[in-house]
Amino acid sequence: MKAAAFHSFGPPEVLQLVDLEAPHAGPGQVRVHVKAAGVQPFDTAVRTGWQPPGASVKFPQIPGNEFAGVVDQTGEGVSGFSIGDEVLGYRILGCYAEYVVVPADQLVLKPQGMPWEEAAVLSASGQTAYTALRELEVGPGDTVLIHAAAGGVGTMAVQLAKAWGATVIGTASERNHDYLRSLGAIPVTYGDGLVARVRALAPDGVDAAFDAIGGEALHASVELVHSKNRIGTIVDHALAERLGVRGIRSQRSAARLAELVGLYVQGKLFVHVSGKYPLHQAAAAHRQVESGHVRGKIVLTIG
Ligand SMILES: NC(=O)c1ccc[n+]([C@@H]2O[C@H](COP(=O)([O-])OP(=O)(O)OC[C@H]3O[C@@H](n4cnc5c(N)ncnc54)[C@H](OP(=O)(O)O)[C@@H]3O)[C@@H](O)[C@H]2O)c1
Repeated sequence: MKAAAFHSFGPPEVLQLVDLEAPHAGPGQVRVHVKAAGVQPFDTAVRTGWQPPGASVKFPQIPGNEFAGVVDQTGEGVSGFSIGDEVLGYRILGCYAEYVVVPADQLVLKPQGMPWEEAAVLSASGQTAYTALRELEVGPGDTVLIHAAAGGVGTMAVQLAKAWGATVIGTASERNHDYLRSLGAIPVTYGDGLVARVRALAPDGVDAAFDAIGGEALHASVELVHSKNRIGTIVDHALAERLGVRGIRSQRSAARLAELVGLYVQGKLFVHVSGKYPLHQAAAAHRQVESGHVRGKIVLTIG
């Protein structure tokens, strides 16, 4: 099968198109012919030498932790999925490839009419945003501040917080303010003076803050949110510990992914893909992610 993989850690160029043996579905597993795979900072971190929890990196390593495609093999004991089913799912590594094998409980059915590129990028950012907002107990009546609101995770977090009844203030550069309004957030520019700008928008205060960028954003959150228990970061775990706020790690499950798909079908969760690359241009996709200014998500088109 064709895959994008790297044989050593390094810059985006280490990602090359390779021919590898296709995996086969074992007991309890499903093989998926991949149509598209999401690209995110997690993948660029793996490429530069970060060891993700729960997996060991081995060369040639195929990155990628979310995908959508068509079931083409089911292992012994699998019920609930059949050959030909259109699905989306997740695994820690290995999704920039024509075939992936996953346990059957890491898949959900793709709604008819959901484009492959959108299905492929829902899991990673969606499940992270969901985990974080649940930990912060965001719900009706809350005003929540979301840092890096125009990125992959931020885009999902804004919409989930809105769907769960909160008012959302989101940080982004000005070029993303209309985008944030379209998602239902009140936009605010990050950088010097952020605390005063947020106070001007929310005179009654901010109840919770979710950080997807780190550093100054966390310091600002501590000034703006009364309870440290309702401040969380997915990026800056060391600073979170020093400040006594929450360091949050994404939790993933098919049930959570199915809930996100349900919100998509109801029109409450919009997926924004701002860059599409064919598999052989995976390095270019990584360069775009590493710019730090992606709006929504980047996708590799494969099958
Ligand atoms: N702990 C976990 O389980 C977990 C899970 C998933 C992701 N993460 C981490 O979470 C972070 C966000 O992931 P992502 O996929 O959302 O990244 P992303 O899509 O690459 O984020 C890009 C966004 O960041 C914004 N941004 C850049 N500098 C900013 C600043 N100083 N203040 C506010 N916004 C800024 C950009 O907006 P402008 O273009 O408007 O500047 C852009 O929209 C990454 O570091 C990722 O590794 C952690």
